[in-house]
Amino acid sequence: MSVADAVREAAARLEQAGCPSPRADAEQLVAHVLGTSRTGVYADGSRELGARDAARLAALVGRRAAREPLAYVLGEWGFRRLALQVDPRVLVPRPETEVVVERCLALIRGIERPHVLDVGVGSGAIALAIADEHPGADVVAFDNSRDALLVARANAEAAGLLDRVRLVEHDLMRGLGPAQYDLVVSNPPYVDPGEIDALAPEVRDWEPRRALIGSGVTEGLADGAREALREGGWLVLEAADGRGPEIAELLARLGYRNVQVTRDLADRERVVEGQWHL
Ligand SMILES: C[S@@+](CC[C@H](N)C(=O)[O-])C[C@H]1O[C@@H](n2cnc3c(N)ncnc32)[C@H](O)[C@@H]1O
Repeated sequence: MSVADAVREAAARLEQAGCPSPRADAEQLVAHVLGTSRTGVYADGSRELGARDAARLAALVGRRAAREPLAYVLGEWGFRRLALQVDPRVLVPRPETEVVVERCLALIRGIERPHVLDVGVGSGAIALAIADEHPGADVVAFDNSRDALLVARANAEAAGLLDRVRLVEHDLMRGLGPAQYDLVVSNPPYVDPGEIDALAPEVRDWEPRRALIGSGVTEGLADGAREALREGGWLVLEAADGRGPEIAELLARLGYRNVQVTRDLADRERVVEGQWHL
């Protein structure tokens, strides 16, 4: 079977399984097996796929057809400038979270050695991207999942950032510590328990529940960050789709100033920031 036929066959199988972007996924899976890019798959379209590659591809396509997220099947996912190792112990980093990082970097740009807290580090996406893109940033990252912290540690090590990202097992419900941060950032769990069944199988059946489900976590963070932030420090939160304006109102009510909502690339109001003044 040629590479082009393998892509066609894989795409048909994924389409039948109800995957939302079967062709693109098929191309990425074939590229992964061949150790090339999607462009490389097109360039090599007429090449014969060897028996070992065909067997490996069949296994990966089978996993994706079971609606395992593409990121877990590939084992690696791009987030800003980083390639992060991901598996079912951590949430798959999302494009809207890249906008969270963009806002964080804009807010700490003028600080030479900003002290940053990322609450709910997961794969390390936010904490590592900030440390990677602000060479002076000193980041503390909390998670209450030991499994997630192991993944974040591996990613920090691979990115050469372990010296500036301190990973700590900590439950945010126990507070965020005394005023010491220039920035507190979080993409908290914000799915209502009653909404879980309506989510796509990739999310509902594969991603860690404790990374998804949370009621009142955003509110608790907004409250707790007031103690953890230095005078003039910033809180940046990712908000559930449709909840940006409501969270902006919450921050204003809690005394944050310069509250602003930023839209993500799909034009949804997903990133909320506010500055803390004593
Ligand atoms: C939505 S995920 C975000 C992961 C990563 N920051 C990202 O944006 O891809 C939320 C993370 O918060 C962690 N978490 C949930 N409840 C927590 C709690 N009470 N204390 C600390 N971390 C918590 C979960 O384990 C998960 O890793």
